[in-house]
Amino acid sequence: MELGRSEAAFASAQTYLAGGVNSPVRAFKAVGGSPIFISEANGARITDLDGNQYIDFVGSWGPMIVGHAHPDVVTMLQSLIGRGTSFGTPTELETELGRRVVELVPSIERVRFVNSGTEATMSAIRVARAATGRPKILKFSGCYHGHSDSLLASAGSGVMTFGIPSSPGVTDGTVADTITVPFNNLPAVREAFNEVGDQIAALILEPVAGNMGVIPPAIGYLQGLREITSEHNALLIFDEVITGFRLAPGGAQEYYQVTPDLTCLGKVVGGGMPVGAFGGRADLMDQLSPTGPVYQAGTLAGNPLAMGAGIATLEVLNQPNTYSRLDRLGDQLANGLKDASSRHGVPLHINRVGSMLTGFFQDGPVTEFEQAAKSDTDHYAAYHGHMLRQHIYLAPSQFEATFVSLAHTEADIATAAEAADNAIARL
Ligand SMILES: Cc1ncc(COP(=O)(O)O)c(C=O)c1O
Repeated sequence: MELGRSEAAFASAQTYLAGGVNSPVRAFKAVGGSPIFISEANGARITDLDGNQYIDFVGSWGPMIVGHAHPDVVTMLQSLIGRGTSFGTPTELETELGRRVVELVPSIERVRFVNSGTEATMSAIRVARAATGRPKILKFSGCYHGHSDSLLASAGSGVMTFGIPSSPGVTDGTVADTITVPFNNLPAVREAFNEVGDQIAALILEPVAGNMGVIPPAIGYLQGLREITSEHNALLIFDEVITGFRLAPGGAQEYYQVTPDLTCLGKVVGGGMPVGAFGGRADLMDQLSPTGPVYQAGTLAGNPLAMGAGIATLEVLNQPNTYSRLDRLGDQLANGLKDASSRHGVPLHINRVGSMLTGFFQDGPVTEFEQAAKSDTDHYAAYHGHMLRQHIYLAPSQFEATFVSLAHTEADIATAAEAADNAIARL
């Protein structure tokens, strides 16, 4: 497979961009080799500069749930772009996307749009601290909530991949108010609350972890967290930046029937444009300026093109049987991977919830970060390369989700499963 143009593009990028990329995991460091540079994408397929076409299971890290360049999203953007791209004033598009979010997501009575998932979690935490008058945040090791300082304690995703426990540049003082405990371990949460519960403003988590590879919550775990936080008058924040609109119209909170106080959104809600959002009970969201004293703002927040892409994407998801289809395709892929693993005797533990899944190169179970970290990352790197050469694009790290979209067909999944069989046979 010819990758010369991508390699040249990466060399050139490194002259001008820090590390040649604008988000570290894109640099392929965890799997070796040079990143592919994409020239265009359509449906479930992406095409690189050398003309190689791949079936895409990254989906821009989650947003592209209806596929790339979906005609409805393209039509919406075309209808808007000639009318101006940013006004810094309210538009009806913001209210329209806001209405859909409020109607779909059980915990959200009021929402505010921002530009990224990072901004969403950072701002939700500010609201939680203001509303409770308490300083501390409880989070789980391996859960990633974006790159704001106070949340870069034992983070997953790129940080975990590079083996850095947190990040230089984050002060001890900032992280002193962040408590980190293992995922899926209620006694650890109880202990933290028993010790400093009166100082904990909020517990924040990915209800289905996606940034240490996919790890579902144990049965009763989310309910347990709801009870403990309520007992201690702390807020429960679901970071649904990945799971929002992916697992169900109302996200993981609908899927698992547990209602948090605040919810963070991103990815799908922007339909591939830069959008994040946070929302929750009206009394909490009314703490925000201009109704309340908590400052939060954004020049491009609620950008009309971004709102339009989000509206069009949610409208596609609103059609009949979309979530059952996503689940079926996810199941087909998981089964294909399981078959390949047992046929060739290579340990591969699959965790899946709906259209998000991870195959961990190990026997499992994988219920928290330390178990995930035991995966054979050399195997993953080799597997990734074998898949790429068969024109299947997977996340360039073991500790990420594989995403299925509505644009994938059963035949695409079968092709990917066959490629996985070949790849695993060669490990
Ligand atoms: C669960 C979760 N929260 C927050 C973020 C941060 O979002 P963004 O990259 O848009 O800042 C991510 C990004 O991957 C995420 O997966």
